[in-house]
Amino acid sequence: MGKFITLEGGEGSGKSTQAKHLVAFLQSCGLKVLLTREPGGSPGAETIRELLVTGDPNRWDEVTEILLLFAARRDHLVKVIQPALEQGTWVVCDRYVDSTLAYQGYGRGVDLAAIHELHQLVAGSLRPDLTFLLDIEVRHGLGRTVGRAHGREDRFERMDLDFHFRVRKGFLELAQQAADRYIVVKSMQDEEVLATEIASHVSARFEL
Ligand code: TYD
Repeated sequence: MGKFITLEGGEGSGKSTQAKHLVAFLQSCGLKVLLTREPGGSPGAETIRELLVTGDPNRWDEVTEILLLFAARRDHLVKVIQPALEQGTWVVCDRYVDSTLAYQGYGRGVDLAAIHELHQLVAGSLRPDLTFLLDIEVRHGLGRTVGRAHGREDRFERMDLDFHFRVRKGFLELAQQAADRYIVVKSMQDEEVLATEIASHVSARFEL
């Protein structure tokens, strides 16, 4: 089985850039690696993503939103993530279930136990082997997202500031609760320095 590594964080935390650096590092170790993302990552899930990340912040109530996220996650898992891991490919995923716990749980107030139950149905025992939280101060993160290329996909960015504070607090609590799986890094630092820090954690954890 390949290893399953996820990157998490609030808006503007630089996950996508660091995910690319991590993939390059793993490839340099001679591993087969798949870079993917949520919501999305399979054709069906990318169709659902469009519904989730565009439009009015109030477009979906929180339960509908969760069901859409888990529908996308199930398709992504069954069609992309599981087959890759079974072939020995390492999977680097930009966001995963911790985003649902942070955004829909802590952010929108959905019962965390209900999210865990849905996740059990959707993913069974499959869990990330390692998760990085790219922690960033909320205002810095939101400042970084202003004017970036995928500006139309801003449904969550436009939620109120308190929502984003709850999301950050949620991620930090999740990281504390699952300290064996989580590594928290500071996102506000030089891109290359952070990439090296992440790579060294991965090498140490998996003896690369
Ligand atoms: P992403 O593509 O990572 O966007 P960004 O680069 O802006 O962080 O994720 C899109 C949005 O989807 C992001 O605002 C967070 C949200 N999201 C949730 O609310 N719950 C989830 O479970 C996931 C995976 C994403």
